[in-house]
Amino acid sequence: MIVNRHSSVEPRIHTDAVPQQRGPAADRVRIARLPIHFFAVAVAFFALAVVAAPWVVGDLIDYFYQPLVLALTHTITLGWITAAMMGVMYRYVPALTKRPLRFPRLALLQLWLFVVGVMGMVAHFVIGYWIATWLAAAVVVVSVALFALNMLLCLAPAGRRGVAETGMLLAVLYLLVAAILGLLLAVDKTFGFLHGSVITNLAGHAHLAALGWVSLTICAVSYRMVPAFLLPEIELPRAATWQLYGLAVSVAGLAIVLLGGIGGAAIWSTAILLALLTYVAVLGSLVRKRRMPIDWTMRHALAGVVSLVLAAGLGLSLMLIGAGSAVGSRVAGAYGVVGLLGWVTNFIVGMSYKLFPGFIAGLRETAGWPKLAITELSLPRYRPFVFFSLNVGVLALTIGLIAAQATLARFGTIIIALGGLLYVSVMAWSLSYAYRPSVPRTAGDPLRILPGGPSRP
Ligand code: HEM
Repeated sequence: MIVNRHSSVEPRIHTDAVPQQRGPAADRVRIARLPIHFFAVAVAFFALAVVAAPWVVGDLIDYFYQPLVLALTHTITLGWITAAMMGVMYRYVPALTKRPLRFPRLALLQLWLFVVGVMGMVAHFVIGYWIATWLAAAVVVVSVALFALNMLLCLAPAGRRGVAETGMLLAVLYLLVAAILGLLLAVDKTFGFLHGSVITNLAGHAHLAALGWVSLTICAVSYRMVPAFLLPEIELPRAATWQLYGLAVSVAGLAIVLLGGIGGAAIWSTAILLALLTYVAVLGSLVRKRRMPIDWTMRHALAGVVSLVLAAGLGLSLMLIGAGSAVGSRVAGAYGVVGLLGWVTNFIVGMSYKLFPGFIAGLRETAGWPKLAITELSLPRYRPFVFFSLNVGVLALTIGLIAAQATLARFGTIIIALGGLLYVSVMAWSLSYAYRPSVPRTAGDPLRILPGGPSRP
């Protein structure tokens, strides 16, 4: 059992001391705002994705490998998911490793390259112009390399590395490999130098990115966050460490057999399935031991875990039927939806409720602006609608895809869009207080209680 005591939930999450960057106060504010810029970008891409989805779902029912589907996939995987995860890691990796970012100015350049590169990729996937797609992909690869440089300089030095840090270290390496492979797949469309089938190469890239980067990060982060939300101390069974290593090794195994066109995909897929089920079991044991109530963050995390089990089931059936047939192609689409929207998006939405108001409150303190409490930066009354529309929408979309029911699938995307746009508006409202010193109207009460005492005379 790995045990790490902490005194209360919110302080533990938000005051994991970030080592002070050297330099003037303006630089410290710039660095504190970095995760918020990334999350603002993520939320904007999420809005674009949910608005576009009802127009793309028809193509997804026909066949999963199409220009608009590629564009929507990367709006979600890079624009929304990767940007949000980078934002969280810029805040938590220096805090967990007690090492400041080595190149904080590069991180801002990285953000701009990321935004320009992802927009370029998405736009050129839509029009199907491969030369511009791989030029934009090259910009994303440079951006990912800069991100990896800053992260690895914090995570790689020897020393006592916790389970979360180890998982994130491996995940960043997977992101780099997946991005380079994505670039090669795009360049190959112009010069045709890769061997093997397009679909297995595609599957190699998609699994390195979705399992090696995204899922490994989520497992690592949730081993840190979930106990902090539910228990008085961070208490993890040893199985958590083995689960992370098992997942990391089996993703590498699967990618090698897919890309090398050799047998053994079923063995590695089964190993991945076992690693993911172990993660579900570890989270289940934490939830059973909980001392704190289940809130909307935890409801999203639990809905995410249910989706993960569903995605594993769909992945297993895909292994048996293959993605080549009409039904196999639709199951592949459903597998992507349940994985990226059901599992990953639920997790990010839930965590964002707890993390980003805290980041904004911290930034305002660093900037010397009027202090705001985390509750003053949140609008919890909208959370039930976001939760139900995301999950009902994902269910309708999944069933619609598998059963080739276009109306049901489109209905699912519209429900997701309604909840998604409400979530985006609420987050935009919260994030705006990282860019302006004013306070919400509801925070005008002179008798309100703030952490650390009154902020204004
Ligand atoms: C990091 C930079 C990335 C680059 C440069 C990139 C590039 C590409 C390219 C060029 C393709 C099409 C390949 C082909 O037609 O042969 C592709 C497909 C795909 N990528 Fe990425 N990608 C990146 C990140 C990601 C991430 C983070 C994920 C998932 C988390 C992801 C998931 C997928 C999926 C699922 C497909 C197949 C989509 C479909 O069949 O419609 N990619 N990627």
